[in-house]
Amino acid sequence: MQLGVCYYPEQWPRTMWADDAKRMVELGITHVRIAEFAWSRMEPRAGEFVWEWLDEAVATLAAAGLKIVLGTPTASPPKWLIDACPEVLPVRADGTRWNFGSRRHYDVSSETYRRECVRIVTAMVERYGRHPSIVAWQTDNELGCHDTVPSYSDAALARFHRWLRHRYETIEALNEIWGNVFWSMEYPSFEAIGLPNLTPTDANPIHLLDFRRFVSDEVASFHAGQVEVLRRHAPDADILHNFMGFFTTFDHYRFADGDALDVAAWDSYPIARTESIALPEEQKARYARTAHPDVSAFDHDRYRAIGRGRFWVMEQQAGPVNWAPWNPVPAKGMVRLWAYEAFAHGAELVSYFRWRQCPYAQEQMHSGLNLPNNELSPGGLEVQQAAREIAASAALSALGAPSPASVAIVFDYETQWMFEIQRHGKTFDYQTLVFDYYESLRELGLDVDIVSRSADLSAYRLVVVPSLAVIDDALVDQIERSSAQWVFGPRSGSKTDAFAIPGNLPPGALQRVLPMQVLEIESLRPTLAPALSVGDTHGVAMHWREHVRANGDTRVAAQFDDTWPAILAHGKLRYVAGWLSHALHREVLQQAARQAGIDTQLLPDGVRIRRRGELTFAFNFGPQQAQAPAPADARFVLGGAQLHTGDVCVWRNG
Ligand code: GAL
Repeated sequence: MQLGVCYYPEQWPRTMWADDAKRMVELGITHVRIAEFAWSRMEPRAGEFVWEWLDEAVATLAAAGLKIVLGTPTASPPKWLIDACPEVLPVRADGTRWNFGSRRHYDVSSETYRRECVRIVTAMVERYGRHPSIVAWQTDNELGCHDTVPSYSDAALARFHRWLRHRYETIEALNEIWGNVFWSMEYPSFEAIGLPNLTPTDANPIHLLDFRRFVSDEVASFHAGQVEVLRRHAPDADILHNFMGFFTTFDHYRFADGDALDVAAWDSYPIARTESIALPEEQKARYARTAHPDVSAFDHDRYRAIGRGRFWVMEQQAGPVNWAPWNPVPAKGMVRLWAYEAFAHGAELVSYFRWRQCPYAQEQMHSGLNLPNNELSPGGLEVQQAAREIAASAALSALGAPSPASVAIVFDYETQWMFEIQRHGKTFDYQTLVFDYYESLRELGLDVDIVSRSADLSAYRLVVVPSLAVIDDALVDQIERSSAQWVFGPRSGSKTDAFAIPGNLPPGALQRVLPMQVLEIESLRPTLAPALSVGDTHGVAMHWREHVRANGDTRVAAQFDDTWPAILAHGKLRYVAGWLSHALHREVLQQAARQAGIDTQLLPDGVRIRRRGELTFAFNFGPQQAQAPAPADARFVLGGAQLHTGDVCVWRNG
């Protein structure tokens, strides 16, 4: 369990650096990330490099014994570059360009900018690539943040043409697969195709989808351009990128393919995230100071899979932030809790944003581990407490590997894109549906992996697919070979890769193992809420419901009060024909878990557990005191079974 911090030496007088480094080490910090926005100081004028300050910063931090993560500065191109090459600025969907004056003002498809990035990264890594204290390199910062991806520029269009030509080979094939006969949208050549913005009504959905696929590949290849240089000159360092949780503009699983990453890092701002996502208002109110109990865990479990077991939290909220609709002070204990929570889910490192609150106006109201006067902030004091507890405990200092989960949830970025392009009902959001299933599993005390649709699923006993737009034969083959229980949610198998409805009706290829068909679908305004019961649990369908037919020996395991089937079952598979209210999802999953031979326990409200190696961690996010589900004779390594809001306890298994 290692702790880190984000530090901006360029924002502070040099006379402070050595003392900062010393105090970091005293606090228990081992890693420090620097430089990710400092291009204008590294290269104040084109081709004129000034490394002396960074040499000194690196030397000072290294001398204190800190390990350094060096960020490439490409999220903030300097003014001289923009003045010389204004085409680097990204273009919004309305055709206007973003201005210089903040950050991320670059077009991921600009060939000029890609060349500039390779140039600055090469200069940097040639200088620092073999420094023994620089243990990792971060590319850029939060790719895609602030809606700077996609860019609707000429550069993007030229590269999109190439991408389309590669995918379809002939314009006739593209016209056929895109269905361009509709509304006379046929194109005479690839070059005649435009970007799917500024159309009077909906652009062709597959045009939009292919553009999103292209943009996702663009982000990955932008990163890959830097990785190629970094690997050459810093062969021993880890390479990472700090992803943003809940962010779906590009496919994070595909991004990590091959040797693109050694570690998946992500930036965790739980309270701000709770405020920003589509949760019911009562949940936002209930968890306003603790964050929703699953909002960080969801991404810990996702990035652990993306990093193939290795993940870091590169930026962790250390107090109130500045960018959410409201930014309250976290409940006492939460900064400490979030660290243990990340470690319980398998994080190698939790690094705080930022060392000290900023001296300037920008991000001024964002807390850090230190107040502007250099006193430890309340969050800083909690980090100090966690660091001391970890150092004092043999069990906590040498954690085992995260325990293998017996349950997988499949999360699929393309499904997010398809259902955003065709929501059909304005409240249908795929990631929110996945989150609801995840929350149900976590309330039942289960450890979960969040994996891609092409992951090897053979080790799981329960596989939950809240929805998956395209079901291919490879997945059906996996189902046939598997002995797990499978739960599929609505809209599964509802599309082909070409964004058409499968010829045999949804759920398409899934019918090989689950004979059924979806005859009609409906999105539901809040006043339309078909009721149903599963076992003793009553509830409704919200947002979405399907009229389905059971074929062959498929059973109707539950039905709506209006007699349409709600759950179809066949052997080890279940299909849920709507977005059910939360308690019903939990009931369905509990039944499937039971059939899979997995023990479940309904945790007290607001409490979550996670097992790692020999240990079980319990956390209380709820507003009232709660009892951790520890056995009566549990041997505690940290805390005890009574948990106040924001409390953690850890006990030895068995
Ligand atoms: C992150 C970003 C940081 C800082 C932080 C504030 O998204 O990577 O540079 O802006 O937000 O919460």
